[in-house]
Amino acid sequence: MRVLDIEPVKYEEDKMLVLDQTQLPGEMAYLEMKTKEDVWDAIYKLKVRGAPAIGVAAAYGLYVCAKDINAKNYNDFYKRFIEIKNYLASSRPTAVNLFWALDRIEGRVKEFEEEKLTIDSWENTQSAIKKAILEEAEKIRAEDESACRAMGENGLTLLKPGMGILTHCNAGTIATAKYGTCLAPLYIGHEKGYDFKVFVDETRPLLQGARLTAWELNMAGIDTTLICDNMASIVMKNGWIDAVVVGCDRMSANGDGANKIGTSGLAILAHEYGIPFYMFVPTSTIDMNTKSGDEIKIELRDGAEIYELWYEKPMAPKGIKTYNPAFDVTEAKYITAVITERGILYPPYEESLKRLFEQY
Ligand code: MRU
Repeated sequence: MRVLDIEPVKYEEDKMLVLDQTQLPGEMAYLEMKTKEDVWDAIYKLKVRGAPAIGVAAAYGLYVCAKDINAKNYNDFYKRFIEIKNYLASSRPTAVNLFWALDRIEGRVKEFEEEKLTIDSWENTQSAIKKAILEEAEKIRAEDESACRAMGENGLTLLKPGMGILTHCNAGTIATAKYGTCLAPLYIGHEKGYDFKVFVDETRPLLQGARLTAWELNMAGIDTTLICDNMASIVMKNGWIDAVVVGCDRMSANGDGANKIGTSGLAILAHEYGIPFYMFVPTSTIDMNTKSGDEIKIELRDGAEIYELWYEKPMAPKGIKTYNPAFDVTEAKYITAVITERGILYPPYEESLKRLFEQY
């Protein structure tokens, strides 16, 4: 199987299927999402994860739940729709794609408010709303696929054959509709014969690097070396790293980027060693309503993920206090360039991000 043929979220034969990433790399199993609880649980438990893939899952998830609504009129439909939307929005707080995708779908629903209604009966309107929700979910998925492809092409212009690349977490094909964000240039470069040497941080505590990125890159036949997170500085010092590439969960208007816990430390190390630090950020992940990284809500997760999840018995004293933030914020000053599907941005990001959105 080709890695780029693996889809984290599929809608086929009237079924929403999610690749259960908690089972990887051991098993590739798809779960059917039938209820809002299924979708919430899949997002919260990281069965589907990665900012763009969460957005796609939320969009199809809204359709799966909204298609069973049988409302009396538009207001009744909207009320029930918003209840589902708010529930799904409570699954994870940091990746803005979740809220962005849910808002986009709400925008389509609102096009059918009664005063704008041109369809003859409420039954027909209700069917049309449901059709519009599915259409929008398909659009979100397809747009993400082309955004990732474009980010891959753009990002590749910054890389050269033979480069040593360090990456963190998983911003690969299963974190998006296809290709990934920061792994996209590696796949495209590999197809062109670039012989990258990729170092993958295991990414504690949930091991997205070891379980998912190493699995993806290995399957693609890319030269991959797995390291523990605390080995990043030695591989940089050894001179093995020419660029660090990472994804993003939410970028604020000043260019601060929240990404998997550990990313900001890597950026500071890269700065110290004079290594370019590239953040791959589709426009769906840029939140111009958030002024700086200080305003980004960081998800806190159960401490058992640190001392229990991967071990046969707890690897810490009983009752130990824990602190388990899932993300941190890399300050804009450490980011050499932001790669988007619409081009590469350079500091000062306050200006380049503003210009990016003014152009469209
Ligand atoms: O907790 P996760 O696994 O959802 O965190 C994912 C990341 O931090 C990714 O780097 C980010 O979402 C970019 S994915 C293209």
